[in-house]
Amino acid sequence: MAFPEGFLWGGATAANQCEGAYNEGGRGVANVDVMPHGADRQAVGCGTRKMLDFEDGYFYPAQKAIDMYHHYKEDIALFAEMGFKTYRLSIGWTRIFPLGDEAEPNEEGLQFYEDLFRECKKYGIEPLVTITHFDCPIHLIKEYGGWRNRELIDMYKKLVTVLFTRYKGLVKYWLTFNEINMILHMPFMGAGLVFEEGENQIAAKYISAHNELVASAWATKIGHEIDPENKIGCMLAAGSFYPYTCNPKDVREAQVRGQENYFFVDVQSRGYYPNYALKMLEREGVDVGMTEEDKQILAENTVDFISFSYYNTRTVASPDSSAENASGNAFASVKNSYLTYTDWGWPVDPLGFRITINEIYDRYQKPLFVVENGLGAIDEPDENGYVADDYRIDYLRKHIEQMKAAIEEDGVEMLGYTTWGPIDLVSAGTGEMSKRYGFIYVDRDDYGNGTLARSKKKSFFWYKKVIATNGEDLA
Ligand code: BG6
Repeated sequence: MAFPEGFLWGGATAANQCEGAYNEGGRGVANVDVMPHGADRQAVGCGTRKMLDFEDGYFYPAQKAIDMYHHYKEDIALFAEMGFKTYRLSIGWTRIFPLGDEAEPNEEGLQFYEDLFRECKKYGIEPLVTITHFDCPIHLIKEYGGWRNRELIDMYKKLVTVLFTRYKGLVKYWLTFNEINMILHMPFMGAGLVFEEGENQIAAKYISAHNELVASAWATKIGHEIDPENKIGCMLAAGSFYPYTCNPKDVREAQVRGQENYFFVDVQSRGYYPNYALKMLEREGVDVGMTEEDKQILAENTVDFISFSYYNTRTVASPDSSAENASGNAFASVKNSYLTYTDWGWPVDPLGFRITINEIYDRYQKPLFVVENGLGAIDEPDENGYVADDYRIDYLRKHIEQMKAAIEEDGVEMLGYTTWGPIDLVSAGTGEMSKRYGFIYVDRDDYGNGTLARSKKKSFFWYKKVIATNGEDLA
């Protein structure tokens, strides 16, 4: 059998993309709430269009999302029906600390997640908890400048201490920051950064990255101290970088972009800044403010496992190349003629999944956890809400086959696999509902219309069989 016994099959969501109820249960406003649907979303997510409050004339999809806050029992029952072994979800920071800098947490928020975890346990589903999935209290952005301010390390330490203490025995698997490398691509979403006119953006991004890396190491330390059973991982938006051609200039570009990506996990897994990053920061004149204590915390608190999302590889060319540009989860890349593309222009590269898995495992030699993989597509439901989503089944089958080969033939240690968006939810990149990933269809459109009714797609039954056979039957 390729997949080890106890392999954690499941699905992954993020609080802001599914919960809604943005102003209920004492919750405060976060950066992710004020990211509108539509043309300005990209600029807001990148920190170049300042939007720190709800503005007239915009639709904010996170406010209600798919209202999982009120539907979680129904949704978890559906996950259980598929046989989920794990459910990856994130904590809404502002449910626990509405402002971020209060002394005491909000009990209602803590109780909400406790109830949710108990609901999972009822079905034998192991929660996998992302401590922050792109969210940062808006108060910490307005008053402190987001993660560029070291004081956020203390706010985060307080948050994780509360979480590890309260959920001791209920939660064992934790991720510190979702796609920590997203800071470089969507800095408002990844670190609450809004850039001032003329500000050195590279410096702001790397200072914020440093603060998050130190906070992540503190979380690992605190989590292990509170419960030695805790397994704490990092989370990378992964995808190998391919050179567009074998021209050494393209190969070098791919290498540099790969290092830029791995920088984060190099620190979280090895415990120190790699030389290529130190040299780059020196050239850019960036001082991240590393203290002796930071060095020690980073060195002594490396992660237990490496988790990552995989949607596609990235093909890159040297700046003087005439290769055609393409998109793909916020990472600039060029068109790869060997691959097909999704409705949203993201490459589809199952073999690239095996390549990426091997690259990460070779580099760190720690257990891996695939915590996101999936196809965002347009679904056409029939009158009963049923979708014959063979395209999604095909995408997932081909990726699982490659993961299987990586385990069986390459000997990679893998803890589990959670698909992105097992239930349709709001797209992080575009704010759309119509970019659907789920096994479960949700009746809601891009503008907030719909009954929110849930219905099973064809892929629901397919994934159920995959889990029941521990990945043996992918037909
Ligand atoms: C990852 C994020 O980048 O990709 C998720 O961790 C996100 O939050 C997912 O939803 C898919 O991207 P998108 O833009 O299609 O929602």
